[in-house]
Amino acid sequence: MEVFTAIEKRCSIRSYKTTQVGKKDLYRVLEAGRLAPSASNKQPWQFIVVTDKQVKEKLRAAYDKDWFVSAPVIIIGCAVPEEAWKRMDGQEYWMVDVAIAIQNMILAATELGLGTCWIADFDEEAIRKAVKLPSNIRVVAMTPLGHPADEKGPRKSRKPLAEIVRHEHW
Ligand SMILES: Cc1cc2nc3c(=O)[nH]c(=O)nc-3n(C[C@H](O)[C@H](O)[C@H](O)COP(=O)(O)O)c2cc1C
Repeated sequence: MEVFTAIEKRCSIRSYKTTQVGKKDLYRVLEAGRLAPSASNKQPWQFIVVTDKQVKEKLRAAYDKDWFVSAPVIIIGCAVPEEAWKRMDGQEYWMVDVAIAIQNMILAATELGLGTCWIADFDEEAIRKAVKLPSNIRVVAMTPLGHPADEKGPRKSRKPLAEIVRHEHW
């Protein structure tokens, strides 16, 4: 699949079949994350793959949605801030690095016919407890991964380019 086709096809999936995700597909998705760029190539990330029903149920304390907990796989995108590049003025970039890796995975999943959904509206401390995160690890986002249960309708609208692109200056 062309990258642009995957970009156009991707949409947030909030309903999953119980069908398992094949190991080959799962590792293809993770590989897409591994190959992502990161500031100064620090790769300050760790990805937790959750398939165990009990652990997924524990994650309900962090994000209480049936469609999320019932997906066959949940990937938790974590950052290791002390490994990440920082700008001279102290601005941290770990969130950007991990976000790029997650989006790479999401586009790879789209190519494989798998559904995903960015999740950021979670209780980080509840995730920490559920998957035993050390205190220096931060969670950037999670995504369920699985076969979409139904075809999505028309994609959500986006602002037109004319509204968001400026030339030469603000
Ligand atoms: C950083 C980020 C955080 C998001 N957090 C959530 C979330 O917690 N729960 C959810 O259902 N969707 C979440 N979304 C999905 C957005 O609502 C969705 O991407 C947006 O409405 C556009 O729809 P589309 O993904 O189908 O194109 C998040 C998306 C992004 C990029």
